[in-house]
Amino acid sequence: MPPMLEATDLSVRFGSTVAVDGVSLTLPDGPSGLGLIGESGSGKSTVGRALLRLVRPTGGSVRFDGEDVLAMRQLRPYRQAVQVVLQDTEGALSPRMRIGAAIAEVLRTHRLVPRAAERDRVVELLTDVGLAAEHAERYPHQLSGGQRQRVAIARALAVRPRVLILDEPTSALDVTVQARVLDLFERLREEHRLAYLLISHDLAVVERLCERTAVMYRGRIVEEGPTEQVLHDPRNDYTRTLRDAVPRLPEAAG
Ligand SMILES: Nc1ncnc2c1ncn2[C@@H]1O[C@H](COP(=O)(O)OP(=O)(O)OP(=O)(O)O)[C@@H](O)[C@H]1O
Ligand SMILES: [Mg+2]
Repeated sequence: MPPMLEATDLSVRFGSTVAVDGVSLTLPDGPSGLGLIGESGSGKSTVGRALLRLVRPTGGSVRFDGEDVLAMRQLRPYRQAVQVVLQDTEGALSPRMRIGAAIAEVLRTHRLVPRAAERDRVVELLTDVGLAAEHAERYPHQLSGGQRQRVAIARALAVRPRVLILDEPTSALDVTVQARVLDLFERLREEHRLAYLLISHDLAVVERLCERTAVMYRGRIVEEGPTEQVLHDPRNDYTRTLRDAVPRLPEAAG
């Protein structure tokens, strides 16, 4: 059995900038989590974008269930299987679209449920992320940042993905809201058997959701292993520096 998602020797260049330089990583079937940490500019988001086929790698390969992702001509099944949740930016949801319509749009694009069942499925998804049916009628600006992030998660879940690429998914939220969204990610991971690739500056978040962690520095993975070992007994000097730069490690708030 090949790993579910596998990048081998991936490189991405932007002009003369080598953003990603020979990165290999694997994501097993869920529930599982791989953390990707490293300083700003080290190439983490670019790895995520390359896996999503939003940027074209200049070298290397990506395989999903053994199939060559970069050669896929029919992208829809892959786009459905591998979803992304980004840092909450108010622009992520259309300001003039009600929440219910924004979720229904995803169902329609992927032709996931008959029209008659749409409303029920929207409510089911809202409930699943800890929102209520009444939220369907609201506009994005009538929700808090944490609630908007839940809507983004509901939209990602709508297509029944197997992988979620989470790029700083809680960074824009204040600490107590962060803790609750983390609880949500923890529960969804098990219930939907999701594999997370979690990109985060917050090592406590990585520790909570990921069994394994990879450390990037200048486009390369300099260390990879069980999260516990990478964060508490790093083999690499750079990882040690990174860890020591973070004031609070073991407990996530709340
Ligand atoms: N579209 C682009 N065009 C040109 N250069 C880019 C582009 N996207 C990223 N880069 C460059 O690639 C490098 C890696 O960027 P990337 O966004 O992957 O870093 P990151 O590790 O996600 O950083 P952060 O933690 O700040 O989000 C940086 O030098 C960045 O300036
Ligand atoms: Mg980034």
